[in-house]
Amino acid sequence: MSKLVYILNGPNLNLLGKRQPEIYGRATLDDVAADCATVAAELGLTCELKQSNWEGQIIDWIHEARERAGGIIINPGAFTHTSVAILDALNAFDGFVLEVHISNVHKRESFRHHSYVSMRADGVMAGFGVQGYALAMRRMGELLK
Ligand code: DQA
Repeated sequence: MSKLVYILNGPNLNLLGKRQPEIYGRATLDDVAADCATVAAELGLTCELKQSNWEGQIIDWIHEARERAGGIIINPGAFTHTSVAILDALNAFDGFVLEVHISNVHKRESFRHHSYVSMRADGVMAGFGVQGYALAMRRMGELLK
């Protein structure tokens, strides 16, 4: 199985570090990419972090991952709670899927309690701040062994 891991991020996560820092913290998506690359290298993996505000772009990247990646770490942002299309795309991906949320979505508004992506995810991290991505990468290292 491919040792490449896609790290996909949905809408508004380009503003990480600036947007609602009391909820999402001050680290940026570039910081997340650097942390994940360090952990991936330690585990003998490579990773590519991508972000889009467009649902279709995320779906295209999941399709691309079918040919290239052994695993996907995904923070779908608000699409988590709405997107059957992202769930369908993930169901067409044969590798491992780990879902990450920076905040503890279960402690927040009830509309954040349901995740379509969790119906496919092999594991879910929520409320570990941006550290959740690196922790998910460690888990991916185990799954891809
Ligand atoms: C989020 C939680 C979602 O409910 C929200 O819409 C986001 C970020 C998180 O990382 O905590 O955009 O996925």
